Amino acid sequence: MSSTSAKRDSRRILVTHALPYANGPLHLGHMVGYIQADIWVRFQRMCGNDVSFVAGEDAHGTPIMLAAEKAGVTPEQFIAGIKASHEADFRDFGVHHDYYHSTHSAENKALVEDIYRKLKSKNYIVEREVEQAFDPAKQMFLPDRYVKGECPKCGTKDQYGDNCENCGATYSARELKNPYSTLSGAAPEWKASAHFFFALPKLQAEVDSWIDRADINNGVKAKLREWTKAEGGLRDWDISRDAPYFGFEIPDQPGKYFYVWLDAPIGYFASLKAYCESEAGKARGLDFDKFIGDENYAEMWHFIGKDIVNFHGLFWPAMLKGSGLREPTGLAVNGYLTVDGAKMSKSRGTFIKARTYLDAGLNPEYLRYYFAAKLGSGVDDIDLNLEDFVARVNSDIVGKYVNIASRCAKLIHDRFDGYLASTVDLLDSDFVVAQPQAYRIVQQTYEARNFAGVIRHVMDILGLCNEALHRKEPWTKIKEAGQAELDSDVHKILTSALNVFRLATIYLSPILPQLGRRVESFLDLNRQFTWTDAAAPLTGHRINHYIPLATRIDSAHIKVMVENSKEDLAPSVQKNAASAVLKPLADMNDAESHLKTPAQPKSSLPTPLASAAASTISIDDFNKIELRIAKIENAESVEGADKLLRLTLDVGELGKRQVFAGIKSAYAPDALIGRLTVVVANLAPRKMRFGMSEGMVMAASEPDGKPFLLSPDSGATPGMRVK
Ligand code: MSP
Ligand code: ZN
Repeated sequence: MSSTSAKRDSRRILVTHALPYANGPLHLGHMVGYIQADIWVRFQRMCGNDVSFVAGEDAHGTPIMLAAEKAGVTPEQFIAGIKASHEADFRDFGVHHDYYHSTHSAENKALVEDIYRKLKSKNYIVEREVEQAFDPAKQMFLPDRYVKGECPKCGTKDQYGDNCENCGATYSARELKNPYSTLSGAAPEWKASAHFFFALPKLQAEVDSWIDRADINNGVKAKLREWTKAEGGLRDWDISRDAPYFGFEIPDQPGKYFYVWLDAPIGYFASLKAYCESEAGKARGLDFDKFIGDENYAEMWHFIGKDIVNFHGLFWPAMLKGSGLREPTGLAVNGYLTVDGAKMSKSRGTFIKARTYLDAGLNPEYLRYYFAAKLGSGVDDIDLNLEDFVARVNSDIVGKYVNIASRCAKLIHDRFDGYLASTVDLLDSDFVVAQPQAYRIVQQTYEARNFAGVIRHVMDILGLCNEALHRKEPWTKIKEAGQAELDSDVHKILTSALNVFRLATIYLSPILPQLGRRVESFLDLNRQFTWTDAAAPLTGHRINHYIPLATRIDSAHIKVMVENSKEDLAPSVQKNAASAVLKPLADMNDAESHLKTPAQPKSSLPTPLASAAASTISIDDFNKIELRIAKIENAESVEGADKLLRLTLDVGELGKRQVFAGIKSAYAPDALIGRLTVVVANLAPRKMRFGMSEGMVMAASEPDGKPFLLSPDSGATPGMRVK
């Protein structure tokens, strides 16, 4: 990593996430990057690294000023109310900052002025007249988005001053016909005013070299380089706005304010400063000046969405370099959230606020899990498919994960007084993927923020563990076996399985911190897991009785959430309906649900692939298809169907499936019995004339030609995932 890591045995890291605008509630889109940052921070801490995680409100700008005016309060009152609501959301989703501040703070004002003075003293600030739309009724200059008019090419009404939604023509706001202010309706005047610019071209070489050095996704890097190289490179950046404006006045320039994006990233430092000066920060001996002045003191990571890459990858490093401060170590960039495959929409009820999710009685850790399962290191958009969300959480967390603990803990208590055996079989081939060294690979996967990769690994080891339990059947053996056999064999199986469960918990605890804490108490450990706990198994230790760890999601909660998100459609009625439909939040005593066999993943999409027209699909699309190894236990002809065979498949942990396959022309039923093949396990069951078909076996063929059934190499076993 950085050069500091060579000198220190642990890394010092500053982590920030994008500061939400203080003009409205958080929605699930915001939560993607916020949860991602929090998971990474928790992971780094488990590794023993010294992390400071700070953020705050982005409190300035015209929209906030106008929103406060509309609400009939001062901007200060307005942003205080929003801040409280954001903090409650962060707390309830387990996004835990060391300090949460605001850009409208004394610390920020001082830092902004200081940085501005430094930039000015080095001749990076230039002054120029700018002509801008002015609203004579509101007596204010209008940002572009507040001016509309008719397209100069085709005459379509109500177009913004950049391009026409109808004919696609591009033009400037000045060219709009019959322009009007969206605030007052008045026709804007064009007035000149002095503006201050940050002369970015003077720092072009420094920005280019930072882009080369910084730890940033390659695609994002390419984009940044495209911007710095395009049409003569960087251009001067307008950093001032005229009064009335809610922000900081520029020193010695009455009536001129800093543009919100100038002071917003400096807000990261303002929050860090307030933290360093707090009791907690002092107790940790943190040195603010070194943090911002010396790259060797700490790494600095910004978690941001893809829409604000230019501010963080061009303007911010230039500001830092230009004022003699350190630059960021890296940017962690997240894609956009879609819901059910489309942009979040208020009318469909998929523009979901963080609070609406919680109020519907849904467990915040389940959203953390689902986002993590979809977050690779890249910047792809991620989709919250509501049906898949329910299926995935129920199948992974309840079915594959906590289920192991609930089943094994009971037997450990029934027969072994709660004690784990003194040795485990982690190196036995059944548990081979859980072998101790694997934790380093998982560590690297986390480091690269490939949380999806972490979860895949965890589900793999849990899958193998469930399979081994299924095969070894300790619950049957425990009834029949003699004491000696019990001690040597069954005890070891149960202990091994509980260790795989424990390992999975260690790996998942940055994602599911509360669940991690519950497992620590169930296993009767009196401290929190650290990363190195993964290196050695837990043996000879007495665990507590099983406590319910997770309950299945009932899709009624999803319905309520969606209904309550349809803002314009009688929200109050729906709110009342919610309490009638819902079970109490996180009904932990619903122990029943853990004891069932693992849930079978349901088909999540009406069409298995996103778009037939697309020539490529993303790995996420591919991962939606659950391919599994199946053993053909029985095959027989179907009366009345001359092409079909009825197959009975053993799909390991998913149980038995009946599948109809059109392969009779090529295979005699008897020849198929006992062989392995590949089945699509999450295809929606289809009712046929002869019965239900619960999946599809895979075969190759020429169009209309003879089918050739797929088979795996030897060693594959029923239920294994095919990827
Ligand atoms: N205030 C600025 C950031 C200043 S950082 C110095 C801002 N605020 S925001 O409220 O609009 O967005 C906050 C974060 O949420 C950004 O990282 C943004 O990319 C992210 N997202 C907002 N909507 C999103 C989705 N629908 N999906 C994923 N991330 C989204 O930008
Ligand atoms: Zn037009």
